[in-house]
Order: sequence, then structure tokens, then C-alpha cells
Amino acid sequence: MWASALLLPSLLAGAQAIEVIRNPFYPLDVVDKLEEATMPKVEEFVAKKIAAKANNNCTLENAAVRREWSDMSEELRQEYVASIKCLMKLPPKSDPERFPGALSRFDDFVAYHMTHAMQLHDNQHLFGAHKYFVYLFEKALREECGYTGYQPYMNYDRYSEDPINSPLLNGNASSLGGNGVLEPSYKGVPQYGRTPNIIASGGGGGCVTEGPFSDMIVSLGPTSMSTATNVTKNPRADGTGSNPRCLRRDVNRNAAMGAKADRAFDLISNSDNIDDFYNRLLGTPPPKDDPYPWGIHTAGHYVAAVDPGGDPMTSPGDPIFYFHHTSLDRLWWIWQMQDAENRLNVIPNGTMPMPPMKQRRIPVPEETIVDMEWLGPAITLLETHDQLGGNGGAFCYVYV
Ligand SMILES: *[C@@H]1O[C@H](CO)[C@@H](O)[C@H](O)[C@H]1NC(C)=O
Ligand SMILES: *[C@@H]1O[C@H](CO)[C@@H](O)[C@H](O)[C@H]1NC(C)=O
Ligand SMILES: *[C@@H]1O[C@H](CO)[C@@H](O)[C@H](O)[C@H]1NC(C)=O
Ligand SMILES: *[C@@H]1O[C@H](CO)[C@@H](O)[C@H](O)[C@H]1NC(C)=O
Repeated sequence: MWASALLLPSLLAGAQAIEVIRNPFYPLDVVDKLEEATMPKVEEFVAKKIAAKANNNCTLENAAVRREWSDMSEELRQEYVASIKCLMKLPPKSDPERFPGALSRFDDFVAYHMTHAMQLHDNQHLFGAHKYFVYLFEKALREECGYTGYQPYMNYDRYSEDPINSPLLNGNASSLGGNGVLEPSYKGVPQYGRTPNIIASGGGGGCVTEGPFSDMIVSLGPTSMSTATNVTKNPRADGTGSNPRCLRRDVNRNAAMGAKADRAFDLISNSDNIDDFYNRLLGTPPPKDDPYPWGIHTAGHYVAAVDPGGDPMTSPGDPIFYFHHTSLDRLWWIWQMQDAENRLNVIPNGTMPMPPMKQRRIPVPEETIVDMEWLGPAITLLETHDQLGGNGGAFCYVYV
């Protein structure tokens, strides 16, 4: 029996409890424990909103549950992979003149990200707009491809020491596929201003040859921001043209070690305001005397990324992108819920240390609109801050 269903004691009072499924191969880490310890605060947060009739029908009893990849059954993991492949076969809804390289519904999301990267990564949008983006992707998997679960996250800590042999990237039928072959020209990901100043290659960099996505056709990109090498140029300067090629990866322990649970725990527990949380998540200022000083945002992106994953514009073109941004969403939520009253709606003023993405200061955040264009309806920024009732109640989920 690898899966044991436990009930969180603090939730037993409700009509139904959240079902906790844990893979006993992975003992709870410090962030998992903090997450559990935060549940009473989450209950209080929801109870207050229910009392104020402001919960948009979302309760802990009817909330969706997003789980860690290896806490999901083999069947559900394979169902998830099949639903991604399904999305890759459905026709795109984005404008074919603007995105001749978008070949599928899956590519619609890449097309959005690559043309909105400046907004998606500024200080006001990084958390909330990505929450909405991942939500719409999850919705497409469920409604258009019949997936019965929710978007999984990756607990980096489970895989950091040995990502190549992990259930996420070992290349078997219930993984996201394996490593890329050795590409001699791929040296890693330069890290300006940090020491070390490169996330050195883990020994891949070329085409993925094992697992569910070894036959994947990548089409959009690369753009000028790609960190991949030896990839055919896109026929269009902005990367929106059709450029059929293989999925490339470098499963990279050097990157993954920068996202271990002690770092995430420190980030959540020792960031008293949203600017600290945002800046440290992005690795600014660069930590000293640290062999993996990337910040969790960068570390998580380069767990396996090369092409299109290693291009900040087209990164959702590797399905692992969604696991990473779901993990960041989870960490943000745990941070918010430490003090919901003061943290739910705060927006950072920090700077994304990735030129040309810019800092924005917004006098009236309530008026900022997150417009998903061909992916979904425009909503206000603060609607993206609450996963238990935000977006008119469309967001209604918890992490376990
Ligand atoms: C809440 O549920 C009620 C009853 O099903 C429904 O009439 C109402 O529109 C729902 N409100 C929201 C915000 O979803
Ligand atoms: C895939 O690898 C994981 C982790 O080693 C293992 O638990 C699982 O049984 C494997 N699944 C298949 C279908 O080979
Ligand atoms: C580029 O890739 C090709 C195979 O697609 C390989 O033969 C060649 O050695 C690579 N070039 C470099 C500089 O690594
Ligand atoms: C960010 O700057 C704006 C405008 O100067 C200010 O109103 C807001 O409180 C700042 N936010 C944080 C989190 O410091």
C-alpha cells in the first residue's frame, strides 16, 4: 500500500474533510509540515468569508485538491499525460495569422505567454497572472480533454538530489518524459551577477528520447531569449512562426538543488513583506557563499529546461512549466495564509532581475486588468489573489 488516505484532524469538524493522500516514500518536509500547520488559519479565513457571504460559494468541502505528482496514483499520472497529449492534438484558437507556429490548443498557451511575457513577469502580475494562466490550462485539460484530476505540482525537494531517477523525469510511462541526449554545445544557463555565474549543464541539452513526450513536436520559438544551443531559427524574428522540432531538456541537479525545502521554508518564514518574498524568490540580491544561489523561481524553471522550457518567452511549451508555476502558487499561498488579513492582496514593488522585464508601480491595483485574450475572460488583478473564492468563485482549490 503506497497510498494511505489520512484526514487532517483540523478539518474533521466540517461535513467532509479534505482527503490527504501521501506517497509514504517521501516523508513530509518542512514546507509540507508548515502547510499542514497553516490549515487552521485557512479554515478561519474561509469561515470569515462565509460569515460575510463573500466566499462565492467556495468552501473547503467543495474545493478542488491539487496534489503533488508522486502523491497521485499511477493511473492519474498517466491520465494527466494523456490529457496533455490530447490538448496537443486539438486545433488552436489563437489567431493563425499572428501565430502560424501555434499548432494546437496546447500551443495557444505558449503563444499567450510569449507575447505577454513582459506583463506576466512584472512585479504586479508574476503571482496572480500565472495563477490565472495555470487555472485556465487546468480547465482546458478537464473540459476539453476529459482529465478528471487537477493540475499537479512538483515538490522540488522530493526530486532535487536525483532528478533523473525521479518519478517526474525518469522517462517511464507515468513520468513527464526523460532527459535530453548530450548536446556538446550546451553549457548551461548563464547567471549574470551571481557566483557561480552559470547553472552548469547536467549533461543533456539535446532531444528527449524517452517517455511520453519523446515524439512531441515543438513549433513556436525559439526567441532571442532562449538559452538553448544548436536549435534551428524560427522563420519569424519574434518566434511566432512554425518551426517543427524536438523537445530538448537538460535534467539538472545543479538547478534543482536551489529549490530544496529548507530554502522554501526560509523564504516563507523569513519574508515579512511581499517585496522580500518576491525578491528572494527571484534570487535578489544574489545570495553569497551559496553553491545554488538562483532563487526558487529560476531553480525550478531549470530543473529540466532547454527548448522551449529554457526560453523565458516560450517556457510553457514544456509541460513541466505548469508543475513549476503551480508549486510557486502553492508557496505564495502558504505565505499569504500566514497572515491572510494583511497578505492576501499585497502586490510587490520588487524588480524582476531579468531585463527587459520591468518594474511597475501601480497607484490603484484594483483597476489593473489581467486580460487573457484568447485563453479566457479579462479579470481584475486582485481577483487573482484568492484561490478560495477569487475570480467570482471560479478559483476554489487547496493544495495538499
Ligand atoms: C452560489 O450558488 C447559488 C445556488 O446554487 C447560485 O444561485 C449562485 O449564483 C452561486 N453564486 C456564485 C457566485 O457562484
Ligand atoms: C515509474 O517510475 C516510478 C518511480 O520510480 C515508479 O514508482 C512507477 O512504478 C513507474 N511506473 C511505470 C509505469 O513504469
Ligand atoms: C548540433 O546538432 C547536430 C545534430 O542535430 C549535431 O550533429 C552537432 O554536433 C551539433 N552541433 C554542435 C556544435 O554541438
Ligand atoms: C508599492 O508602491 C506603491 C506606490 O508607491 C505603494 O502604494 C505600495 O504600498 C507599495 N507596496 C508595497 C508592498 O510596499
